[in-house]
Amino acid sequence: MTDYDLKIAGGEVITAADRMHADVGIVAGRIVALGADLGEAARTIDAEGLWVMPGGIDSHVHIAQYSGEGIVMADDFASATAAAACGGNTTVMPFVLQRRGTGLRQSVTDYQALADGNCHIDVSFHLIIADPTPAVLGQELPALVKDGYTSFKVFMTYDDLVLHDRELLEVMRVAKREQALVMVHAEGYDSIRFMIDHLEATGQTEPYFHSESRPDIVEREATHRAISHAQLVGVPLMIVHVSSQAAMEQIQWAQAKGLEVYAETCPQYITLTAEDLRGLNMDMTGAKYVCSPPPRTKTDQAAIWRGLETGTFKTFSSDHCPFRYDAVDGKLNPQARTSFRWVPNGIPGIETRLPILFSEGVTKGRLSPEAFVALTSTNHAKLYGLHPKKGSIAVGSDADLVLWDPTRKETIRQDILHHGADYTPWEGFEVTGWPMITISRGEVVAEGGRVVGRKGHGGHVARGLSPVASQARGDA
Ligand code: URP
Ligand code: ZN
Ligand code: ZN
Repeated sequence: MTDYDLKIAGGEVITAADRMHADVGIVAGRIVALGADLGEAARTIDAEGLWVMPGGIDSHVHIAQYSGEGIVMADDFASATAAAACGGNTTVMPFVLQRRGTGLRQSVTDYQALADGNCHIDVSFHLIIADPTPAVLGQELPALVKDGYTSFKVFMTYDDLVLHDRELLEVMRVAKREQALVMVHAEGYDSIRFMIDHLEATGQTEPYFHSESRPDIVEREATHRAISHAQLVGVPLMIVHVSSQAAMEQIQWAQAKGLEVYAETCPQYITLTAEDLRGLNMDMTGAKYVCSPPPRTKTDQAAIWRGLETGTFKTFSSDHCPFRYDAVDGKLNPQARTSFRWVPNGIPGIETRLPILFSEGVTKGRLSPEAFVALTSTNHAKLYGLHPKKGSIAVGSDADLVLWDPTRKETIRQDILHHGADYTPWEGFEVTGWPMITISRGEVVAEGGRVVGRKGHGGHVARGLSPVASQARGDA
């Protein structure tokens, strides 16, 4: 007779609030004990020299999402969640994209079917509202919030997704009534279309010009507009994938005024710049870095770091949005050579998010280990209604853990990764600090860079209301 199914012994437990030497006792997928001399377990993992942290929660990933005629995302749920597990994550939050003309409930059903039985770790969906019809706003969205889809993203750009100001306001009003959290992609549609048309007309069509078509000015303007709309309605707002100092300053302005504005940034905005989009002398390799908003300048990187260090950003997500580079259904589709306009937007990063932030942040002394846990796990759980089930090392929480070697040196290379893309934007990037073992609800799902769990172990997690959204309830 043993006390635990699994015991993690001898490691240093790091949470968003604390660090301590403690063993972790696990029964039926949950943490049941923390401390010394815990007793016998059916299996014990020796974590001497390792840090035991809550598994990463990546609250911004795109998996198997419709991406336009002839374009196919490089990951399905099996490959994306396997890669995420190998990168130290235990929960990912993909988007259910509503295509115009399709109901929201139908979109959820279709998307859920792609995930069912295929996930290595847990997933929890956000919604993307692209067609806010009266039926969507009046019936479907409220019902889905009650079913645990408690956050959704709206876009201020992209032909197929853009919501204009009145629509944004109407959607925000429903979010307030239903206590859902609104996430916004803040780049201005008309300014970008104006820039694209001008660049194409003057023959500036290589992938690099993607970055010139959406300068920080259009991100700053849209960020301010989104904040103003949220203020008008009286609803909290999460601004995702913030790339520039200019946009960040709008967020800091709002936060200083006491507005409930939250922000996320991503690895690409602390490690890549627009120069990467030039590729090798303006060739198509720049397409590997095409994402929106685009990577900016070293000055912007330094500003984003200050935002991470001082709490402007609550979450650090990957915005994993993978396309194959050398593929007709990916970055090098036939139209892409005619203009950057046709290069699918997005880069892969689900497996490299944690090592990059750890190495650049904790190893280089910019972030404490506790801040790293908050930015990569706990704050995601808290903001999106998964806490304390996820994002914690506490009695009663799911045993979602990563055993981390803070001293291990690795070089990121495509051939050690598990995603479906055929490249990584961080090829050759050296890191110190690496995930050794990932445990999802008490089961080892990845170990030593290999997937050891089973497809179907992961399932969908319905969420509670975001505490920040439910505090703000009222009549708008
Ligand atoms: O380029 C990007 N980021 N593609 C993903 C979709 C989005 O806007 O997050
Ligand atoms: Zn976006
Ligand atoms: Zn995204």
